[in-house]
Formats: sequence, structure tokens, C-alpha cells
Amino acid sequence: MTIITPSKTSSLGRLNRILSGSKYSDARYFILVDENTYSHCLAKLISNVEQLQSAEFFEVPVGEECKDIAIAQQLWETLLESDADRNTIIVNLGGGCVSDLGGFVAAGYKRGIRYINIPTSLIGMIDASIGGKTAVNVGASKNQVGFFLQPEITCIHPAFLDTLPDEEIFNGIFEMLKTFLIADPEKYHQLCEIILSGTLVVLPEMITACAEIKAAVVKQDPEDRSIRHILNFGHTFGHAIESFSRQPGQKPLPHGMAVGIGMVCALYLSVQKLGLGQEHLEYYRQVASKLVKMPQYSLADTEQILAFMRQDKKNADGEIRCVLMQELGAPVIDLPIDENELRTALLKIQ
Ligand SMILES: NC(=O)c1ccc[n+]([C@@H]2O[C@H](COP(=O)([O-])OP(=O)(O)OC[C@H]3O[C@@H](n4cnc5c(N)ncnc54)[C@H](O)[C@@H]3O)[C@@H](O)[C@H]2O)c1
Ligand SMILES: [Zn+2]
Repeated sequence: MTIITPSKTSSLGRLNRILSGSKYSDARYFILVDENTYSHCLAKLISNVEQLQSAEFFEVPVGEECKDIAIAQQLWETLLESDADRNTIIVNLGGGCVSDLGGFVAAGYKRGIRYINIPTSLIGMIDASIGGKTAVNVGASKNQVGFFLQPEITCIHPAFLDTLPDEEIFNGIFEMLKTFLIADPEKYHQLCEIILSGTLVVLPEMITACAEIKAAVVKQDPEDRSIRHILNFGHTFGHAIESFSRQPGQKPLPHGMAVGIGMVCALYLSVQKLGLGQEHLEYYRQVASKLVKMPQYSLADTEQILAFMRQDKKNADGEIRCVLMQELGAPVIDLPIDENELRTALLKIQ
């Protein structure tokens, strides 16, 4: 897999050069977009990457709605109707939803064709476009059916972020904080200081650093059996908080924000159980509060959140497992946590 990260030369320019090479002389391209990336990103891509000028494109529904087996089926039918063979390359121009779907379609079509990710959301750039996890949802259960297939190329072009709504930027920032917390405390502090300064600028070098950490972790454990679990820091709580927020009467929280709140709980338990310095919890809470309002859960709420945690896919032998941290940059995976401790952590968010 080739990852094109931001540098002094344009990422799209480098993609153009790569695709002009002999390896791709027989390739036929099929670009997936959603409504937003169709209007904001497609023209920029095509005007910079000559090889894609004759590509066909297909627009899929925005967000999770596209991660549906019925949409994948439509795409397979379209590929067949246009005689797409194994030289066809699917180009995913969009956020994590488009790349999860496009990767899935590529992995299934004729037992696997190549795909290229061109992430246009921050979550896409630092997380979803890297690592080869592809998926569709099954009903309300996210990412339940999918394949591991690495993208042929991931091309990160931060200028696409210019049109991304602020809330989507915040979502990505929380995943960046997570990645730096588990792997690069210096970058973590730099990003926190930018957030605390009140002017949020997403620096291309930060995106590159984050993408490189993800790629390095994936390389060690491509199928997510051990070390890759460190990327789930804050996610046992985060997924449950996200599901709870979608209950009637609650305000729905997007994934990144829910993980941002979940990381308070994970840091709290890290202090209690692994001796992480209390100051790290306080500092993180201060930073995170700049981006999301910290919820105050009642005891009844915590019961519902715990019920979602019991369903979490990382559980084994009936235990709820979390990633915690001994020191910043020193995560410990798969720790079974007692339900009383989980409950207390949820009550200590504010
Ligand atoms: N495969 C993985 O390893 C992995 C990792 C993390 C997340 N994911 C998946 O990714 C999805 C979340 O990713 P996401 O937040 O990028 O979702 P998304 O694809 O829905 O994008 C978020 C929103 O931003 C819009 N958008 C994207 N780029 C834009 C741009 N440049 N300008 C304007 N609007 C733009 C999209 O249309 C959408 O409305 C989830 O389904 C999650 O499960 C996968
Ligand atoms: Zn996440």
C-alpha cells in the first residue's frame, strides 16, 4: 500500500504521476462520491489527476445510509453492466462512509479488485482511509459485514477539508487526540495547546503524523487481533455513549464526540487502576470541553449505557474490556473491567 501524505508538492499531483506509470496503463477507474464530495471535491480531483478524467462516477447516499448491502449490490450490478474487469480500480472520494463502502464493493467484486482512497473528511484522512477495514452495516449494527483488503493507494490532500463542516472537524480532532494519546505524547500536547488557544487549525503535518501512526499500528497487526486494539482507546465507552445518545429523548452525538467523552472515562480508569497521573485526566477534560459539552449522566442513564457496553464487540468471556493507559503513549489492551468501576467512570465525566 502506498500512502501519499501532504508535503511541499501537491498530493494530487503525486497521485497523477503514480497513475501515469506503466503499472496502471490498463486501469479503468470508477469514482464513488456522495452528494457533498460530488459538489465540493470531484471537480478538484479530476482537474488535478489527468488519469481520472475519463472515469465513470457513481453517487451514493450521504453518511451511514450508503453502508448498505443493497447499495453495494447496485454498485456490483453497475460494474457488471459496464463490463468492469479486474483492471478496474474503484476510487473512493469521500469520508469514512464512502471508503468503507467502496472498499467493501472492491473486495467483493470478482473476488477482489484494487481500490484507491482519497479521503475528504478529517476522520477519513487520519483513520478510515488507512488500514484495509471495509464494511457495511446490518440494520442498526455498524460494520458487521466486511473484508480486510488494503487500499492500493491512500492519497491525503488536506485542502479538501476547506469545505468540511466544523462539527466534522471536531469529530476528527477527537480521533487525532486519541491516536496521539496512545502513541505520541508530544504531538498530543501540541494539538491540545492549539485547541486551548481557541483557534483550531488542522496542520497538515499533524494529519501526516496521525496517518503514519495508524499505518504503523496496522502494519503490525493487519487483522486487528492484538496490538491494533490500542486504536480503540475510549471506544468501549464511546460506542455505548454514542448508542445511548440515539435513544428517544437524548441528543444524538456523532461518533468522534462520543469517543471524546469516552476518553474521559478511560483516562479516569487509567488513573484509578494503572496509576496514570491525575493531571492528565484534568488536562484532557479541559481540552475536550472546548469541543463538546460533557454530559452529566444519572444512575438510570449509566444502566442503559452499561447495557450497550455489554454488547460491545471487544468483549470476551462475558467481560467488558477496555484499553487503558499506564502513561501517555503506553496503552494496555483488553483489560477486563468490573461493572461497578465502569458505572463510577460514567458518573465522573464532568
Ligand atoms: N475502516 C476504518 O478503519 C474506519 C475507521 C474509522 C471510521 N470508519 C467509518 O467511517 C465513518 C465515519 O467517517 P466520516 O466521519 O468521514 O463519515 P462520512 O463519510 O459520512 O463524512 C462525514 C460528512 O462529511 C461530508 N464530507 C466529507 N468530505 C467533505 C468535504 N470535503 N466537504 C464537505 N463535506 C464533506 C460527508 O458527505 C458527510 O456528510 C463511519 O461509518 C465509521 O464506521 C472506518
Ligand atoms: Zn473511532
